[in-house]
Amino acid sequence: MSTDTLLADLRALLGPSGLLTDPSDTEPYCSDWRGLFHGRTDAVLRPSDTARLAEAVRLCAASAARIVPMGGNTSMVGGASVSEDGSELVLSLTRLNRIRAIDPVDMTMTVEAGVTLKAAQDAAAEAGCLLPLSISSEGSATIGGVLATNAGGNNTVRYGNARELCLGLEAVLPDGTVFEGLRRLRKDNTGYALRHLLIGSEGTLGIITCAVLQLYPRPRQVEVALCGVESVDAALALFMAFRGADPSAIQAFEYMSGTGMALVNTLIPDAALPLAEPSPHYVLVELATVRDDGLLRGLLETVLGAALENGAVQDAVIAESQAQRLSLWKLREEHAEAQKRAGGSVKNDVSVPVSKIPALIARATAACAALIPGIRAVPFGHLGDGNIHFNLVQPDGADRAQFLARDHEIMDTVCAIVRDLEGSFSAEHGVGRLKPYMMPDWRGGAELDTMRRIKRAIDPDDMLNPGKIFPGP
Ligand code: MLT
Ligand code: ZN
Repeated sequence: MSTDTLLADLRALLGPSGLLTDPSDTEPYCSDWRGLFHGRTDAVLRPSDTARLAEAVRLCAASAARIVPMGGNTSMVGGASVSEDGSELVLSLTRLNRIRAIDPVDMTMTVEAGVTLKAAQDAAAEAGCLLPLSISSEGSATIGGVLATNAGGNNTVRYGNARELCLGLEAVLPDGTVFEGLRRLRKDNTGYALRHLLIGSEGTLGIITCAVLQLYPRPRQVEVALCGVESVDAALALFMAFRGADPSAIQAFEYMSGTGMALVNTLIPDAALPLAEPSPHYVLVELATVRDDGLLRGLLETVLGAALENGAVQDAVIAESQAQRLSLWKLREEHAEAQKRAGGSVKNDVSVPVSKIPALIARATAACAALIPGIRAVPFGHLGDGNIHFNLVQPDGADRAQFLARDHEIMDTVCAIVRDLEGSFSAEHGVGRLKPYMMPDWRGGAELDTMRRIKRAIDPDDMLNPGKIFPGP
């Protein structure tokens, strides 16, 4: 079947607003958030329900047309990027945007793939519940995308990654059949847990169309503090102090470097450090509990008081209102945007055992400085779960393209240290199109081999999201 015939069939199926072919309409779907990949496509498919989506995939399969599924297009690794040769079609999930059900007794919500994470959080809150997944891009990132990439984020320390919050899935497989797994059971040992294969598969095995997510009770007390600390060891000691006092109270425990905080303060409007003096390192801690006993502030003050006394914490501010909580969080959440504004940056979304975070930051900072004098190390992220974004910004005034051309050299320098510290080269961003070259080295042998066999069994013609996860032949 020719491309023209396929597009005519898709237009008849999806209607005029369900298929974009004009280059001015398709163009925004051809570049990633980081601006690393710029591809081309003949069409963007925008089905509005699962049945039409499945039929569209069947039509594409019959024409051997390859599909790149896309949610909010916020991938940090080109996970939804189309190729430059124009041979792939984009399948946008954003019109699958219904919240099908919320059940405050079962504590579940059934959400279509194109609902943004923020809209899902808000709907859960309106029903008196908490959807605890939280990431910096939650205003644009969609439920389908966060599950396809098994996103982690700020609250993993307490609630786990997206995978741990998903009880059931509906997905369209590469031949257009629908995987109907929207069960909402806490216990269900009936053969292979296929949803866990789809979660984190980055759209290479199926297109997630709907999910059942686990909800939690909404906290009645929340406390947020920003602390200036003298060292990464002190940040880790503070985490251990909170964990020792009450591990169940920790909702988020985030680390930021002095360099990153300075970039945010300089480049993000309305961001201001609320401490008298800058510190070399910072921690943002959020405590939360469903209890209504008024004791959470006391816990925070006791732990911080002891840390101020022993010198680990240099200064700290506690938010007194929801507005202040949001402005402290803004200093953390704008890190990615501030780096983007500072010039070219190379991201290393790595994880190590929590105990090794000080060594990771010290060793990787020194190794990158030796590799490129003037390079700005901006480590930050989820200290509580061992996931640090060891990001590097180009030296001030350097050429962006020349700096980015050295991205593999920089990533390999950081990753050699991560490997030595028994970590992973991708903690929460996935592999996408940027990092498949690392797979043989890190996941080679039986692991990558088994992944290839699964891919071949489910998608023998490599129709779904080609070029992601797996290195070329
Ligand atoms: C974050 O936690 O803000 C992101 O995962 C960002 C990043 O690596 O830049
Ligand atoms: Zn992160």
